[in-house]
Amino acid sequence: MAIPDSFIQELLNRVDIVDVVDASVPLKKAGANYSACCPFHNEKTPSFTVSPTKQFYHCFGCGAHGTALGFLMEYQGLGFVEAVNELAKRVGMTVPQETRTVEQVAAQKAAVGMHEALQVAMHYYRGELKKSEKAIAYLKGRGLSGEIAARFQIGYAPPGWQNLAAVLPEYQSDVLTAAGLVIANDQGRRYDRFRDRIMFPIHDQKGQVIGFGGRVLGGDGDDAGPKYLNSPETPLFQKGHELYGLFLARRAIREANRVLVVEGYMDVVALAQYGIGYAVAALGTATTPYHITKLMRQTDDVVFCFDGDAAGRKAAWRAAMNSLPALTDGLKLSFLFLPPEHDPDSYVREYGKEAFERAMQGAMPLSQYIVEKLGEDNDLLSQESKVRFLNEAEPILKQIQAPRLGLLLRKRVAELAGVSLEELEGSLGLKQTAVKRAYQPARSSRKPPTLVRRLIHMLLMRPALAERLDGRLVAGKGVEDEILRRILELMRSQPQMTSAALLHALQGDLPEQLRTELSAELMEADDGLALEEEFAGALQQLRVTWERQVSTAAELLTLAQEKGLQALTPEQRALLQSSRWGHGKS
Ligand code: CTP
Ligand code: MN
Repeated sequence: MAIPDSFIQELLNRVDIVDVVDASVPLKKAGANYSACCPFHNEKTPSFTVSPTKQFYHCFGCGAHGTALGFLMEYQGLGFVEAVNELAKRVGMTVPQETRTVEQVAAQKAAVGMHEALQVAMHYYRGELKKSEKAIAYLKGRGLSGEIAARFQIGYAPPGWQNLAAVLPEYQSDVLTAAGLVIANDQGRRYDRFRDRIMFPIHDQKGQVIGFGGRVLGGDGDDAGPKYLNSPETPLFQKGHELYGLFLARRAIREANRVLVVEGYMDVVALAQYGIGYAVAALGTATTPYHITKLMRQTDDVVFCFDGDAAGRKAAWRAAMNSLPALTDGLKLSFLFLPPEHDPDSYVREYGKEAFERAMQGAMPLSQYIVEKLGEDNDLLSQESKVRFLNEAEPILKQIQAPRLGLLLRKRVAELAGVSLEELEGSLGLKQTAVKRAYQPARSSRKPPTLVRRLIHMLLMRPALAERLDGRLVAGKGVEDEILRRILELMRSQPQMTSAALLHALQGDLPEQLRTELSAELMEADDGLALEEEFAGALQQLRVTWERQVSTAAELLTLAQEKGLQALTPEQRALLQSSRWGHGKS
């Protein structure tokens, strides 16, 4: 059923993204591009931009971006194949079927297999819950209604080592271990990962089950293992990216225009039962920048409410720190601190929905939280304590890209430390306070881009340039080097690829953050004539760097031959090794 890449390229060449987007989101011409208020987050001034020349869209507010195909998938919630069919229909193309290699077929089957296996397991666990008085009693005891248990597809994994074999007859298959349902030990014995636990299925944004959290019945878990056992990281499930409850909460988030981030499975479920359907939980990990970016696509009001205990407060601070690079002026982040003896679950049960929502109104804004936290254990009386205050503030201030928020926070910090704003900015090496563009690429704005990064950028702008780059010169081991090699490889097999097609083809290879940055850079860059010259310059620089490395390596090699490897420092040895590898490739 796979669709050949060449067809996707052709399709993206034929459609015009401006028409595709305009049909759902009316666009206005703005210079060379088109713009509108972003359909993926709430905003009042348009930062959603569509480029007719580059054939992709990018939102400078929330970072959403992609091709015409990506737009249909995101906007209409279509699957990839559906979106391809839909687009093809519009331009009158017929979607062909591909003949694939055995490996490709196997890989795809395995992915489908994992989804199916997880789905089967979920239904099995649900069925077992209905049969288990003990499990029902536990959930009842915790105040869960049957209705809410059904909504969250909560189940029960009974005791026993190979229960799943009854519903998944291919119990020996690698698919089950890969999906995290079955564990194979060193002796080759296989057994169910989840036994005698309440099962919380975890869904991806399409509503497919991608993993589970399993809770012991009663107590905080000890003999029976940890209180919660989660699916391991699998090809379908990465904890740092997923949020428990997001799929079910989507509608409520839009309606309330707010999302509540809590710590636990039980918090999400209890809140939903009490009428707060817009809660999600990070899965036993810190809230990551991915999580924040994901949430920003849904709403611009994010409230964190962690447990009132010390661990919960620590988690809140980590969430605050992780959110810094993703902040925008339009985003409201706040923190609700519960009394130490409460978590959101117990709080909503004791005081109800209205009280909880009232408490949320009084949640502490991020900026206030930061200032209060920095001022904790610091009387700010002596010069030394003011210096400490500024030292602690520095890394925080430097990560904030949102212009107005950053400005106000710097002002407040300066006031507290008894210096002027200019003095503060001078001492931190920050730019003067002119309010700059609302969006800056999160990572790289302060560091000049590396040579490899610039090359990637230029190739994305004008893929045909790839022809002129000798892949042997790109021998580094960094992420960016790998991406650059991947681009060259793609262009060699399909020399006609356009920018949008290339960006699309890279999707699986690029970390989301990097993809958002590149997309923003591309949208901002104007592909004028200077590109050719700039590219030639960068090539020249690449060659020089490479030659220098080769000659250093040659010197080191001589040294090693004369005096032995011990004569080299670890750095020199590493260099020698990497350049050998570079030669090996040629
Ligand atoms: N967690 C985990 N592994 C553990 C303990 C906790 O993965 N051993 C994760 C789970 O996602 C859990 C969350 O951290 O939901 C918060 O932990 P906790 O507050 O202890 O759990 P609750 O969801 O509040 O569960 P309960 O009320 O049943 O104790
Ligand atoms: Mn709890």
